[in-house]
Amino acid sequence: MRLNLPQDQTLIGESPAFLEIIDQCSRAAKHDRPVLVIGERGTGKELIAARLHFLSPRWEKSFIQVNCAALPENLLESELFGHEAGSFTGASVRRIGRFEEAHGGTLFLDEIATTSLSAQEKLLRVTEYGSFQRIGSNKTIHADVRIIGATNIDLPSAAERGEFRHDLLDRLALDVITLPPLRYRRDDILLLAYQFGQRVAQERKWQSFPGFSGDMAHSLMQHDWPGNIRELKNVIERAVYHAEDEHEPISVLEIDPFDSPFRPRPKIQKTGEAPVPSPAPSQQDSKPLDYSQAVATLEQALLKNALESNKYNQRDTARFLNLTYHQLRHQLKKHGLL
Ligand SMILES: Nc1ncnc2c1ncn2[C@@H]1O[C@H](COP(=O)(O)OP(=O)(O)OP(=O)(O)O)[C@@H](O)[C@H]1O
Ligand SMILES: [Mg+2]
Repeated sequence: MRLNLPQDQTLIGESPAFLEIIDQCSRAAKHDRPVLVIGERGTGKELIAARLHFLSPRWEKSFIQVNCAALPENLLESELFGHEAGSFTGASVRRIGRFEEAHGGTLFLDEIATTSLSAQEKLLRVTEYGSFQRIGSNKTIHADVRIIGATNIDLPSAAERGEFRHDLLDRLALDVITLPPLRYRRDDILLLAYQFGQRVAQERKWQSFPGFSGDMAHSLMQHDWPGNIRELKNVIERAVYHAEDEHEPISVLEIDPFDSPFRPRPKIQKTGEAPVPSPAPSQQDSKPLDYSQAVATLEQALLKNALESNKYNQRDTARFLNLTYHQLRHQLKKHGLL
């Protein structure tokens, strides 16, 4: 089926992990029950939610999207369920909520984990009985809406902490689609990079896209992509926009545009205490951690920071780190910093 989505909404990927998600999506699209889409930031949750709607029997009806994190608690309830005129300060006219608007179609509740317990209680009622009341009204309204929720947090843990209702979680979790981070879809990196590059080349009115140099392709494959597909897209767009010759393969990769020797560093807190850089991948990373590599990275970062803070004077740096001059020289040598 051709999805009538803008070009940059097309889902790209061929890795087994991605194809499994597409299969799961097609199966889930057919039934008319809630679906949860879970995944780290930038993994494509919004695109998957849209796909679920457009592959479902509701595809010709409304697809309404609400970012639950974008509204304060009281306004979110009014946004979802509507309100009667005069029901609270500022509610001068009656407002139809998103549930009513989505009648017959799909309501995509993005960042669903940020909803208040009170909004969750109302959501539970809608998922159970298909009914709710506008704020300030006793009249029960029925809406036939399919809910898709998305979040980047672990909902069962949120439920354990009392931040998300267990009963709502059970209702919503009829199908749970968990998107793999890009680092577990390495086969897709170059494919995605190529597509993003091609789009920018088109925007720049180049005749064709020259591709990437071997070194650049290698670096793209090696990077861990903590920001996932969004990060990859930004990096490629930056690289292609900065390229000067449309016939030369793209070869300059700038992962962190803030990287500069003049970047303002956080202030050192106490005399004799170097800022401690983060040595290891974030806790969210479920990849195995190489202990020796992480310690080496930490040591190197400490040494570099201390050298920089002491204007590369090795005696001052040694004093700063509470090392003898010879100990410092040994460490610098070990890490190839001499
Ligand atoms: N499979 C894919 N093919 C092509 N582009 C993709 C794919 N997945 C995601 N993208 C692109 O990556 C960016 C991030 O996707 P999206 O907004 O859907 O992620 P998200 O998981 O909702 O992120 P967040 O948690 O920050 O809200 C978008 O520009 C989207 O178009
Ligand atoms: Mg999103």
